[in-house]
Amino acid sequence: MTAIEASAPGKIILLGEHAVVYGQPALAVPLGSLRATARIVPGQPGAGLTIDALDIGVRLSLAMAAMNALSLTARLVLEAAGAAEPDAEIELHSTIPIASGLGSGAAVAAALARALGEYVGRSFSAAELSDLVYEVEKVHHGTPSGIDNTVVCYEQPVYFLRGQPPRVFHAARPFHLLVADTGTPSPTRETVGTVRAAWQREPERCEALFTRIGDIVRTGYRAIEGGANEKLGPLMSQNHALLQELGVSSARLDALAAAAVTAGALGAKLSGGGGGGSLIALVRAADAAGVTAALESAGAVRVIHTTVS
Ligand code: MEV
Repeated sequence: MTAIEASAPGKIILLGEHAVVYGQPALAVPLGSLRATARIVPGQPGAGLTIDALDIGVRLSLAMAAMNALSLTARLVLEAAGAAEPDAEIELHSTIPIASGLGSGAAVAAALARALGEYVGRSFSAAELSDLVYEVEKVHHGTPSGIDNTVVCYEQPVYFLRGQPPRVFHAARPFHLLVADTGTPSPTRETVGTVRAAWQREPERCEALFTRIGDIVRTGYRAIEGGANEKLGPLMSQNHALLQELGVSSARLDALAAAAVTAGALGAKLSGGGGGGSLIALVRAADAAGVTAALESAGAVRVIHTTVS
């Protein structure tokens, strides 16, 4: 048997993170320029399955491994395929920074599941893969809404509402986003916990914030589908302000948002779990270079320009 390779993209949440855990809609798009890749090759007879996560220096043998996201993914694939553990080696590599709000955990699990599934003769539909990765996401952050696994596995822009089939959408006109990395890793599990604690302390205040975020998402969805992209910028900035009120922004994220808007961005917000991680800014193509420079001066360790179409 020859080598099999599979990959999955990172993701950007355009609007609606955190509130989506509490039943509000959210919009997310794949970020194809950053990817997780899994390559599987035959191993020595009797050696079992080895997983090498090159970027984080983890190498594990499935038979010996404690339960973690990688071993759980492999076990779920073998169970779904009704296959025995193969004698094989999987190399994982990812260009998606870990704990950056860009879906690294979901993408690594999706790439691993696709490659191993094909190797043992089971290819997954996007919906099946998304369900499998959702089980793994629970290990990463306890109470995931399901948006990360959905957008990463479907590789399409999605309007997502917990418990409902995702609605794939298309932007009537392409728009430009800058994705700025604060350089501060922030596990989603922690900020999801911050919001949960706030909601338990002050349910009415938090639910009012969730409702306002949900309204922003619905308005943003209509704007994107109708080609009124310029309306998206102010909605992103309003969403950021509500996330600040939920306690999941940071001084660095706020500084980057302010720098982007001052340099001409149409709006900016944290994206993903927050607390650190990534900021996104909506820009006109002509302003992308200037806003990138402003983000870098304000401390972004990396800025990616992507087009949503
Ligand atoms: C993380 O990418 C998005 C959150 O809303 C958590 C979730 O939806 O599971 C913060």
